[in-house]
Amino acid sequence: MAEFPLPPATQRLRLRRFTAADLDPFFAYQSLPDTARYLLNEPRSYTECMARIAMYVDAGFSKPGDWAAFAIEAADKPGFLGEIALKWDLGADKEPKTGEIGWTLTPAGRGNGYATEAAAAVLDLAFGQLNFHRVQARLDERNTASTAVCERLGMLREARLAENYFLKGEWTTELIYAVLARDWKAH
Ligand SMILES: CC(C)(COP(=O)(O)OP(=O)(O)OC[C@H]1O[C@@H](n2cnc3c(N)ncnc32)[C@H](O)[C@@H]1OP(=O)(O)O)[C@@H](O)C(=O)NCCC(=O)NCCS
Repeated sequence: MAEFPLPPATQRLRLRRFTAADLDPFFAYQSLPDTARYLLNEPRSYTECMARIAMYVDAGFSKPGDWAAFAIEAADKPGFLGEIALKWDLGADKEPKTGEIGWTLTPAGRGNGYATEAAAAVLDLAFGQLNFHRVQARLDERNTASTAVCERLGMLREARLAENYFLKGEWTTELIYAVLARDWKAH
């Protein structure tokens, strides 16, 4: 398997590559309507989760369009608390890179600051070893738990796209938050 970048360990978390053993806990929360509520996808079926885990296990990170997806687990307790992923924008020049970050936690993982802590580690990786110039997050305006993560990270709210998606039977409004390498390093 090609060498894959890993974020630094944090005080409470370890971000690691997905393995086949993550399938059942991944399905357990990805199949919940509550997890999918503000995401573009519907709750995921078991076979969709199998395909996704297989993609993550095999993925490389060497070209635009690639995803670096990490399983989040407690540093002192192996297991699965959620997923955090960095996408290298398609169409971006090879260097410097631009991309997108996204996070989901299991219900048990929420309310502990884990998403913010994991995202900070992924941004350290993106703006350090991976030489990203800009990373953005795109979210449904109603997803206040997720906007709060962006704000705790110091990402700037750059855009509000009023009713730009017709999703799950209704118009939804997208927010774009972003951070540049120089601001992350100064922060
Ligand atoms: C979005 C999502 C990841 C946010 O999770 P979260 O747990 O609220 O965010 P964090 O992990 O950063 O935790 C922050 C919360 O932990 C609390 N917390 C408790 N102990 C803490 C500690 N030691 N350190 C930091 N925060 C702590 C914070 O006060 C905050 O709670 P509050 O929102 O009530 O103020 C989660 O709601 C989720 O998975 N949603 C479904 C999927 C989804 O919509 N993903 C985003 C798509 S854009």
